[in-house]
Amino acid sequence: MRMITAIPEMKAAVRAVKDRKETIGFVPTMGYLHEGHLSLVRSARQKTRVTIASIFVNPTQFGPNEDFKAYPRDLDRDAAMLEREGVDLLFHPSAGEMYPEGHRTTVEVLDLQDKLCGRSRPGHFRGVCTVVLKLVEIVRPDIAFFGQKDAQQAIILKRMVRDLDLDVHLEILPIVREADGLAMSSRNTYLSPLERQAAIVLSRSLRTAEVKIGKGERRAETVLAAMREMVGRESLARVDYIEAVDMDRLDPVPEIADGTLIALAVYIGKIRLIDNLIVRLEK
Ligand code: PAF
Repeated sequence: MRMITAIPEMKAAVRAVKDRKETIGFVPTMGYLHEGHLSLVRSARQKTRVTIASIFVNPTQFGPNEDFKAYPRDLDRDAAMLEREGVDLLFHPSAGEMYPEGHRTTVEVLDLQDKLCGRSRPGHFRGVCTVVLKLVEIVRPDIAFFGQKDAQQAIILKRMVRDLDLDVHLEILPIVREADGLAMSSRNTYLSPLERQAAIVLSRSLRTAEVKIGKGERRAETVLAAMREMVGRESLARVDYIEAVDMDRLDPVPEIADGTLIALAVYIGKIRLIDNLIVRLEK
């Protein structure tokens, strides 16, 4: 695996791949990799000829009071994991390389960026869209791979690709979970043992929703109330939001239907975790 830090060098490597008429699968990450990231890499390797991963802790998607400085980083460990998975090229630019002095251009997906996580993380999705657009322009992948855990991010990025007619297909892969159901996230490493126990409440509450819906409940408020009640019983947990929304506009729905997104963000102590499910109703 070759690691590249400069944009011109990355573009030259991409040009060489394109000249060979080989397809590119791209897995953008912020590093501190876990099985969720590796599932994206494995899918890229199956579907495309050349796999490119990036590791860049993107400063513009963190708010002033968020964890940019503390965000876990371990390049050697991550590079070894990617190498083992057969990644061909690793792009690891510095912040100065991505945002040189005078950088003033950003991308926003209006409305969608202000809902759900956008309410407590203003500017977050502008940072995500801007960096993903830049990365996609540099790497020029045929397919870029993202995880369903960041459901709103996936929906917003798909809209950006559609609205800007970008020549890339986004593939969204299922959430990878720990044995007890906790959705894998680099931020799980912040949790103390007690908080780690408490964090199961996110996936448990989604399971409760699933069971209720499976028994025929369709009133969103009833399903969400059961989830809130369950999270409320966990003393270390504080709800940011628990919502049932449509996948197109991310607006709250009164009735659960096939394709409804049930999403939640919950603080466990000081750590904000997210999880979600897309409802599938048997036909
Ligand atoms: O999902 C992430 O890890 C990040 O938001 C992404 C897509 C790599 C952009 O920085």
